Amino acid sequence: MKLVLTTLLVISLILISSLPKSTTAQYPSGDYPCDSKCKARCEAAGVKKRCINYCGICCQKCKCVPSGTVGNKSECPCYRDMVNSKGKPKCP
Ligand SMILES: *[C@@H]1O[C@H](CO)[C@@H](O)[C@H](O)[C@H]1NC(C)=O
Repeated sequence: MKLVLTTLLVISLILISSLPKSTTAQYPSGDYPCDSKCKARCEAAGVKKRCINYCGICCQKCKCVPSGTVGNKSECPCYRDMVNSKGKPKCP
């Protein structure tokens, strides 16, 4: 009886410790390459760090980054339509 309990305990510990890894993955669905897309998108940005930061937020939500460094937002309606708290376009 003791052995069964120990086995159950070990199994549940393994299950619990394996859970967070799969739920905290950066891009659980799609694996869209936000990093490289945003780097290209922000190539000409004045404040590159901020550009990449906002681009990353939008990209993770939309799984899409327009091509080129400006414009082309019609390629990504979700990206185009995201606004900040002031109602201005959020994504670079
Ligand atoms: C749109 O994307 C192309 C490359 O795909 C880029 O050359 C161009 O500068 C971008 N922006 C506009 C406004 O055309």
